[in-house]
Amino acid sequence: MAQVISFSIFKGGTGKTTSAVNTAACLAEAGKRVLLVDLDQQASSTRYVGIDPDQVNPAFYHVFLKQTPASVVRKKTTFGFDILPSSSLMAAIEESLDPGDEIMLRDILKPLQDEYDYILVDTPPGKAGLAFNGIVAADLLLVPASAERMAIDGVSDLINHVQAIIWHKFRNELINQEIRILFTMYKAGTNHSPGIVQATRKIYGGNVLDMYIPETIEFPRSFDLKVPIIQLAPRHAGSEAYRNVAQWIINH
Ligand SMILES: Nc1ncnc2c1ncn2[C@@H]1O[C@H](COP(=O)(O)OP(=O)(O)OP(=O)(O)O)[C@@H](O)[C@H]1O
Ligand SMILES: [Mg+2]
Repeated sequence: MAQVISFSIFKGGTGKTTSAVNTAACLAEAGKRVLLVDLDQQASSTRYVGIDPDQVNPAFYHVFLKQTPASVVRKKTTFGFDILPSSSLMAAIEESLDPGDEIMLRDILKPLQDEYDYILVDTPPGKAGLAFNGIVAADLLLVPASAERMAIDGVSDLINHVQAIIWHKFRNELINQEIRILFTMYKAGTNHSPGIVQATRKIYGGNVLDMYIPETIEFPRSFDLKVPIIQLAPRHAGSEAYRNVAQWIINH
Protein backbone atom coordinates (compact mmCIF):
# COMPACT_ATOMS: atom_id res chain seq x y z
CA MET A 1 0.00 0.00 0.00
CA ALA A 2 1.42 3.34 -1.06
CA GLN A 3 2.00 6.01 1.54
CA VAL A 4 0.34 9.26 0.41
CA ILE A 5 2.39 12.41 1.05
CA SER A 6 0.89 15.81 0.27
CA PHE A 7 2.94 18.99 -0.11
CA SER A 8 0.55 21.53 1.34
CA ILE A 9 0.49 25.11 2.57
CA PHE A 10 -2.11 27.76 1.73
CA LYS A 11 0.59 30.36 1.18
CA GLY A 12 1.79 30.61 -2.43
CA GLY A 13 5.31 30.25 -3.78
CA THR A 14 6.97 28.42 -0.86
CA GLY A 15 8.30 25.42 -2.80
CA LYS A 16 5.38 22.94 -2.90
CA THR A 17 5.89 22.09 -6.57
CA THR A 18 9.70 22.14 -6.44
CA SER A 19 9.62 19.84 -3.42
CA ALA A 20 7.02 17.44 -4.83
CA VAL A 21 8.79 16.98 -8.19
CA ASN A 22 12.31 16.72 -6.79
CA THR A 23 11.33 14.41 -3.94
CA ALA A 24 9.54 12.20 -6.49
CA ALA A 25 12.71 12.08 -8.60
CA CYS A 26 14.87 11.19 -5.57
CA LEU A 27 12.50 8.45 -4.38
CA ALA A 28 12.54 7.02 -7.91
CA GLU A 29 16.35 7.21 -7.95
CA ALA A 30 16.29 5.16 -4.73
CA GLY A 31 14.32 2.47 -6.59
CA LYS A 32 10.85 3.31 -5.24
CA ARG A 33 7.66 3.20 -7.29
CA VAL A 34 6.30 6.73 -7.27
CA LEU A 35 3.19 8.50 -8.55
CA LEU A 36 3.10 12.31 -8.54
CA VAL A 37 -0.36 13.91 -8.50
CA ASP A 38 -0.71 17.49 -9.77
CA LEU A 39 -3.84 19.08 -8.27
CA ASP A 40 -2.98 22.64 -9.28
CA GLN A 41 -4.67 24.32 -12.24
CA GLN A 42 -1.40 26.24 -12.76
CA ALA A 43 -0.08 22.77 -13.76
CA SER A 44 3.45 23.58 -12.60
CA SER A 45 4.39 19.99 -11.74
CA THR A 46 2.96 18.82 -15.05
CA ARG A 47 5.04 21.37 -16.97
CA TYR A 48 8.08 20.62 -14.79
CA VAL A 49 8.12 17.03 -16.08
CA GLY A 50 7.73 18.23 -19.66
CA ILE A 51 4.02 17.53 -20.24
CA ASP A 52 1.88 20.17 -21.93
CA PRO A 53 -1.28 20.47 -19.79
CA ASP A 54 -3.29 21.57 -22.83
CA GLN A 55 -2.60 18.21 -24.49
CA VAL A 56 -3.88 16.16 -21.54
CA ASN A 57 -7.07 14.34 -22.50
CA PRO A 58 -8.86 12.64 -20.80
CA ALA A 59 -7.91 14.66 -17.73
CA PHE A 60 -8.31 14.63 -13.98
CA TYR A 61 -11.61 16.39 -14.52
CA HIS A 62 -13.06 13.21 -16.05
CA VAL A 63 -11.74 11.20 -13.11
CA PHE A 64 -13.49 13.51 -10.63
CA LEU A 65 -16.69 13.18 -12.68
CA LYS A 66 -16.23 9.39 -12.41
CA GLN A 67 -16.14 9.07 -16.22
CA THR A 68 -12.57 7.70 -16.37
CA PRO A 69 -10.40 5.75 -13.93
CA ALA A 70 -7.26 7.54 -12.75
CA SER A 71 -5.14 4.77 -14.31
CA VAL A 72 -6.19 5.96 -17.79
CA VAL A 73 -5.13 9.58 -17.15
CA ARG A 74 -1.80 8.60 -15.58
CA LYS A 75 1.36 9.13 -17.67
CA LYS A 76 4.97 7.97 -17.42
CA THR A 77 7.63 10.65 -17.06
CA THR A 78 11.19 10.20 -18.30
CA PHE A 79 12.44 10.50 -14.71
CA GLY A 80 11.43 7.11 -13.34
CA PHE A 81 8.08 8.08 -11.84
CA ASP A 82 4.49 8.43 -13.08
CA ILE A 83 2.25 11.49 -12.96
CA LEU A 84 -1.45 12.23 -12.83
CA PRO A 85 -1.17 15.47 -14.78
CA SER A 86 -3.16 18.63 -14.31
CA SER A 87 -4.94 20.51 -17.07
CA SER A 88 -6.90 23.70 -17.52
CA LEU A 89 -10.05 21.72 -16.64
CA MET A 90 -8.93 21.67 -12.97
CA ALA A 91 -10.74 24.99 -12.61
CA ALA A 92 -13.96 23.21 -13.56
CA ILE A 93 -13.40 20.60 -10.85
CA GLU A 94 -12.97 23.37 -8.32
CA GLU A 95 -16.33 24.80 -9.44
CA SER A 96 -18.08 21.46 -9.11
CA LEU A 97 -16.90 20.55 -5.59
CA ASP A 98 -19.49 20.63 -2.84
CA PRO A 99 -18.94 20.57 0.94
CA GLY A 100 -18.01 16.99 1.87
CA ASP A 101 -16.25 16.41 -1.45
CA GLU A 102 -12.86 16.94 0.22
CA ILE A 103 -12.64 13.14 0.45
CA MET A 104 -12.92 12.50 -3.31
CA LEU A 105 -9.19 12.32 -4.08
CA ARG A 106 -8.64 9.85 -1.27
CA ASP A 107 -11.14 7.50 -2.93
CA ILE A 108 -9.74 8.16 -6.42
CA LEU A 109 -6.23 7.13 -5.33
CA LYS A 110 -7.29 3.91 -3.56
CA PRO A 111 -7.26 1.66 -6.67
CA LEU A 112 -3.69 2.84 -7.48
CA GLN A 113 -2.21 2.24 -4.06
CA ASP A 114 -0.98 -1.30 -4.73
CA GLU A 115 1.06 -0.15 -7.72
CA TYR A 116 3.21 2.38 -5.85
CA ASP A 117 5.35 2.76 -2.77
CA TYR A 118 4.67 6.49 -2.57
CA ILE A 119 2.02 8.81 -3.97
CA LEU A 120 3.14 12.45 -3.75
CA VAL A 121 0.50 15.16 -4.12
CA ASP A 122 1.32 18.72 -5.22
CA THR A 123 -1.51 20.92 -3.94
CA PRO A 124 -2.52 24.40 -5.12
CA PRO A 125 -2.13 27.44 -2.85
CA GLY A 126 -5.17 28.98 -1.16
CA LYS A 127 -8.04 27.56 0.88
CA ALA A 128 -10.10 25.85 -1.78
CA GLY A 129 -11.58 22.45 -2.56
CA LEU A 130 -8.66 20.84 -4.40
CA ALA A 131 -6.16 21.92 -1.75
CA PHE A 132 -8.43 20.34 0.89
CA ASN A 133 -8.69 17.17 -1.22
CA GLY A 134 -4.89 16.96 -1.20
CA ILE A 135 -4.79 17.34 2.58
CA VAL A 136 -7.52 14.77 3.28
CA ALA A 137 -5.84 12.19 1.01
CA ALA A 138 -2.53 12.36 2.92
CA ASP A 139 -1.00 10.01 5.45
CA LEU A 140 1.78 12.58 5.84
CA LEU A 141 1.52 16.32 5.26
CA LEU A 142 4.82 17.90 4.30
CA VAL A 143 4.54 21.66 4.73
CA PRO A 144 7.12 23.52 2.64
CA ALA A 145 7.93 26.84 4.27
CA SER A 146 10.37 29.29 2.80
CA ALA A 147 12.96 30.23 5.41
CA GLU A 148 12.16 33.92 5.38
CA ARG A 149 10.15 36.42 7.37
CA MET A 150 6.47 35.49 7.91
CA ALA A 151 7.20 31.78 7.42
CA ILE A 152 5.65 30.96 10.79
CA ASP A 153 2.39 32.72 9.87
CA GLY A 154 1.98 30.54 6.80
CA VAL A 155 2.84 27.36 8.71
CA SER A 156 0.46 28.18 11.59
CA ASP A 157 -2.34 29.06 9.20
CA LEU A 158 -2.07 25.60 7.61
CA ILE A 159 -1.58 23.62 10.82
CA ASN A 160 -4.34 25.42 12.74
CA HIS A 161 -6.78 24.91 9.90
CA VAL A 162 -5.89 21.23 9.54
CA GLN A 163 -6.05 20.47 13.25
CA ALA A 164 -9.15 22.52 14.09
CA ILE A 165 -11.30 21.95 11.02
CA ILE A 166 -10.07 19.12 8.78
CA TRP A 167 -9.09 16.66 11.53
CA HIS A 168 -12.41 17.35 13.22
CA LYS A 169 -14.47 16.83 10.08
CA PHE A 170 -12.60 13.65 9.00
CA ARG A 171 -11.65 12.31 12.41
CA ASN A 172 -12.13 8.66 11.45
CA GLU A 173 -10.05 8.87 8.28
CA LEU A 174 -7.24 11.13 9.51
CA ILE A 175 -6.59 9.62 12.93
CA ASN A 176 -3.00 8.71 11.97
CA GLN A 177 -2.16 11.71 9.78
CA GLU A 178 1.22 13.26 10.54
CA ILE A 179 2.59 16.74 9.80
CA ARG A 180 6.21 17.77 9.16
CA ILE A 181 7.59 21.17 8.20
CA LEU A 182 10.23 21.32 5.46
CA PHE A 183 12.21 24.55 5.19
CA THR A 184 13.01 25.59 1.64
CA MET A 185 14.92 28.54 0.18
CA TYR A 186 17.30 28.35 3.13
CA LYS A 187 19.98 31.02 2.99
CA ALA A 188 23.16 29.43 4.31
CA GLY A 189 25.80 31.73 5.76
CA THR A 190 23.28 34.20 7.20
CA ASN A 191 21.72 34.45 10.66
CA HIS A 192 18.38 35.00 9.09
CA SER A 193 17.25 31.53 8.01
CA PRO A 194 18.61 29.73 11.12
CA GLY A 195 16.74 32.26 13.28
CA ILE A 196 13.47 31.51 11.53
CA VAL A 197 13.96 27.76 11.82
CA GLN A 198 14.76 28.12 15.52
CA ALA A 199 11.65 30.23 16.15
CA THR A 200 9.51 27.67 14.32
CA ARG A 201 11.07 24.82 16.31
CA LYS A 202 10.06 26.59 19.53
CA ILE A 203 6.46 26.16 18.49
CA TYR A 204 6.49 22.93 16.47
CA GLY A 205 9.49 21.13 17.98
CA GLY A 206 10.36 17.83 16.31
CA ASN A 207 7.79 18.39 13.59
CA VAL A 208 10.38 20.61 11.87
CA LEU A 209 12.60 18.41 9.68
CA ASP A 210 16.36 18.56 10.28
CA MET A 211 17.23 18.95 6.62
CA TYR A 212 16.84 22.28 4.85
CA ILE A 213 16.59 22.95 1.13
CA PRO A 214 19.14 25.62 0.15
CA GLU A 215 18.15 28.66 -1.84
CA THR A 216 19.79 28.29 -5.22
CA ILE A 217 19.20 29.40 -8.78
CA GLU A 218 19.53 25.73 -9.79
CA PHE A 219 15.86 25.22 -8.86
CA PRO A 220 14.38 27.84 -11.21
CA ARG A 221 16.88 26.57 -13.83
CA SER A 222 15.74 23.03 -13.29
CA PHE A 223 12.12 24.12 -13.81
CA ASP A 224 13.00 26.08 -16.97
CA LEU A 225 14.94 23.13 -18.41
CA LYS A 226 12.16 20.70 -17.38
CA VAL A 227 14.41 18.27 -15.56
CA PRO A 228 14.67 17.50 -11.82
CA ILE A 229 17.76 18.90 -10.11
CA ILE A 230 19.32 15.45 -9.58
CA GLN A 231 19.52 15.03 -13.36
CA LEU A 232 20.68 18.60 -13.96
CA ALA A 233 23.28 18.86 -11.20
CA PRO A 234 23.59 15.49 -9.43
CA ARG A 235 26.24 16.59 -6.91
CA HIS A 236 24.76 20.01 -6.13
CA ALA A 237 23.76 20.76 -2.51
CA GLY A 238 20.16 21.15 -3.73
CA SER A 239 20.23 17.58 -5.09
CA GLU A 240 21.68 16.23 -1.86
CA ALA A 241 19.01 18.08 0.12
CA TYR A 242 16.12 16.40 -1.70
CA ARG A 243 17.93 13.03 -1.54
CA ASN A 244 17.98 13.54 2.23
CA VAL A 245 14.25 14.25 2.23
CA ALA A 246 13.66 11.07 0.20
CA GLN A 247 15.85 9.07 2.58
CA TRP A 248 13.98 10.47 5.58
CA ILE A 249 10.69 9.40 3.98
CA ILE A 250 12.04 5.89 3.30
CA ASN A 251 13.34 5.49 6.86
CA HIS A 252 10.32 7.08 8.53
N1 LIG B 1 15.19 26.21 -2.82
C1 LIG B 1 14.90 27.12 -3.74
N2 LIG B 1 15.83 28.07 -4.11
C2 LIG B 1 15.55 28.99 -5.02
N3 LIG B 1 14.40 29.07 -5.68
C3 LIG B 1 13.44 28.17 -5.39
C4 LIG B 1 13.64 27.16 -4.41
N4 LIG B 1 12.52 26.41 -4.35
C5 LIG B 1 11.65 26.93 -5.23
N5 LIG B 1 12.21 27.99 -5.87
C6 LIG B 1 11.59 28.83 -6.88
O1 LIG B 1 10.57 29.60 -6.26
C7 LIG B 1 9.43 29.68 -7.11
C8 LIG B 1 8.22 29.08 -6.37
O2 LIG B 1 8.49 27.70 -6.15
P1 LIG B 1 7.34 26.61 -6.34
O3 LIG B 1 6.66 26.78 -7.64
O4 LIG B 1 7.93 25.29 -6.04
O5 LIG B 1 6.36 27.05 -5.17
P2 LIG B 1 4.84 26.62 -4.93
O6 LIG B 1 4.65 26.64 -3.44
O7 LIG B 1 4.54 25.37 -5.63
O8 LIG B 1 4.07 27.84 -5.60
P3 LIG B 1 2.47 27.92 -5.84
O9 LIG B 1 1.89 28.23 -4.49
O10 LIG B 1 2.30 29.00 -6.83
O11 LIG B 1 2.03 26.58 -6.33
C9 LIG B 1 9.78 28.95 -8.39
O12 LIG B 1 10.27 29.89 -9.32
C10 LIG B 1 10.91 28.01 -7.97
O13 LIG B 1 11.80 27.69 -9.02
MG1 LIG C 1 3.00 24.95 -6.99
